[in-house]
Amino acid sequence: MHLETPLLKSHEISLLNSNNGFERNIYLKLDNCQPSGSFKIRGIGHLIKENLLNNNIETVISSSGGNAGLAAACTAQKLGIKSVIITPTTVFPSVVDKLKSYGAEVIIHGDIWDEADKQARDLCNKNKSALYVPPFDNELIWKGNSSIIEEIKCQMNDEIPDCVIASVGGGGLILGLIEGAIRNGWFERDVKIIAVETVGADCFYQSVRAGKIVSLDSITSIAKSLGARTCATKLFEYYQKYQDNIYSFTVSDKEVVETMEKFLNDHRFLVEPSCGASLAVAYNMDKYLGKGKYKNVVVEVCGGSAITLENLLNYKKIFLI
Ligand SMILES: Cc1ncc(COP(=O)(O)O)c(C=O)c1O
Repeated sequence: MHLETPLLKSHEISLLNSNNGFERNIYLKLDNCQPSGSFKIRGIGHLIKENLLNNNIETVISSSGGNAGLAAACTAQKLGIKSVIITPTTVFPSVVDKLKSYGAEVIIHGDIWDEADKQARDLCNKNKSALYVPPFDNELIWKGNSSIIEEIKCQMNDEIPDCVIASVGGGGLILGLIEGAIRNGWFERDVKIIAVETVGADCFYQSVRAGKIVSLDSITSIAKSLGARTCATKLFEYYQKYQDNIYSFTVSDKEVVETMEKFLNDHRFLVEPSCGASLAVAYNMDKYLGKGKYKNVVVEVCGGSAITLENLLNYKKIFLI
């Protein structure tokens, strides 16, 4: 379902992070180039394919009006099955158009995601040949996302990076990276997984600080794709077990907007705030991870479709002027 994406050394971001004789290599794992516009198709594609092989599935149903829904619709189209996407009224109009272009039936229901999700689950319960596609909390999704690590390993000719930076919403992406790192013995070789959220969409960071799983009351960041109120339990369990390897950071919306613009100018890619979050750490390695540390760095460019140039200009008006 997904493509093997390029691993590109960023000349610009590497230079920015090299000083006083310490040279850093910042590699971009370009999952923004996936067919559905984000990394999501790795995990969701794997979940749907496995279910199609083992069960009699004719329809997939998702309640995500974001990148998970796009990944489900794109996968369903490739496999020749039906997709129904139930989303709340907050969905981006451009995403609705893109969902329809993948042949999805789009139903707008409820003002918040929980209402759309309940409708999706009810519909699934009534239809035996339908598969409910969750956005992140499923082992098959993590397994599909973990393919990123094997690709990096191969693309770096079996060398290993010092750290891999990625954004966290509910934790499906980072769980894939953690499981891939464990499978390949990277934790024994001291590789760090850097989990990044934005302030106001930071359910994992708050859980790490509290020492227990914490649910956010609301999502106040512009990075709506990172807006899970509670992280996957498995992510917190891994954090407790591998605290030396998993670090959690937050960045501000302002830093994200600055980074989105820099990244657009440096690499000519327009990415969502959710992706700008991990890039913000990659652009500021000394600030977040310390001077003279972490020479070979991979940042997962998770992508995302809920962004237009007009949105970026509006964010700039709010945060940068
Ligand atoms: C572009 C993008 N990046 C990151 C994430 C976070 O992924 P996860 O919920 O698997 O942590 C999402 C989630 O929708 C996303 O769409």
